[in-house]
Amino acid sequence: MKFSQIPNTDLKVSRICLGTMTYGAPVGKDEAIKLTHKAIDMGINFIDTANMYEGYNRSPGSSGGVAERILGEALKDRRNDVVLATKVGMPVGDAPEDKGTSPAAIRKQLHRSLKYLRTDFVDIYYLHKPDPDSPLVETLAELARMIGQGKIRYYGISNYSAEQLDELLTIADENKLPRPVVCQPPLSLLKQDVTKDLLPLCKQQQIAVVPYQILQGGLLTGKYRRGQPLPENSRKKEKNSWVWDLTDEVFDRLEEIERQAKKNGISMTQYAIRWVLSQQAVVSAIVGVKRIEQLEEAVRALKSD
Ligand SMILES: NC(=O)c1ccc[n+]([C@@H]2O[C@H](COP(=O)([O-])OP(=O)(O)OC[C@H]3O[C@@H](n4cnc5c(N)ncnc54)[C@H](OP(=O)(O)O)[C@@H]3O)[C@@H](O)[C@H]2O)c1
Repeated sequence: MKFSQIPNTDLKVSRICLGTMTYGAPVGKDEAIKLTHKAIDMGINFIDTANMYEGYNRSPGSSGGVAERILGEALKDRRNDVVLATKVGMPVGDAPEDKGTSPAAIRKQLHRSLKYLRTDFVDIYYLHKPDPDSPLVETLAELARMIGQGKIRYYGISNYSAEQLDELLTIADENKLPRPVVCQPPLSLLKQDVTKDLLPLCKQQQIAVVPYQILQGGLLTGKYRRGQPLPENSRKKEKNSWVWDLTDEVFDRLEEIERQAKKNGISMTQYAIRWVLSQQAVVSAIVGVKRIEQLEEAVRALKSD
């Protein structure tokens, strides 16, 4: 395994981070526990989850918590082997503290996450998305309190634009509040917009980038072919709304990427993972996997990274 240091922290994380958004369904509890243990045995020490994750059973505003509970069980004897990240901000119920990043939401959701994850602290607590209804200074002050109480070690942001991150940094500095150490944007060969401004800002500000959907939900593995039926057991077949529409334009781009991968003598999956890891400020790439072989292929991508 290869590791990277997250700047301004004592966290050293594996270049592959295990995503858990599919824990619960289609990856059932026992399988998910096995996958987690296998990942740790392979040297992966970085795990990404969120209070909202409940696999394919997710519906708008449903209560989430499924992936965290499974991880709590998986990590009960291995908590100290991993850098554990979870998130707050997406709706997980009807109460005002069940969505957003107000101080009350952070207190309630962090308490729940710690209980489900069976731990006293999370290493990285992400604001899952910007919350226009909560003043940032209050959000950051609450995160500072949680850091002071030892419930979180550092915090990160996800789905922020460069402009939104810039504003957050200004507020943090002006109020002597902590800065985020990690930024989690979507990034793949098919979705490169953050390379223009967000990634340069992160590099300049020494904020580590940990991108998600690096395989674009499986499109960048080459499993979907133009004019052919959807493969069995694939996400597009099982959860259509989680994968882009398979238009001719998408296939044109995929076929070009596949040609490039072949030229480099590696699989399309590995090519896609290496590309993400070569982008500025990226320290680790989150992979979502359904089976252990998929995880093994992701780790093989690191061989000559
Ligand atoms: N911050 C956020 O807002 C946010 C949003 C989304 C996700 N995330 C995080 O990022 C993680 C990854 O997201 P994601 O799962 O949507 O994206 P992804 O990593 O692009 O796609 C993962 C899917 O691709 C397929 N796959 C993976 N490796 C493969 C291989 N070697 N060969 C063939 N197929 C393969 C699997 O689906 P099938 O086998 O079922 O086809 C797998 O579930 C999540 O678990 C979560 O931790 C964060």
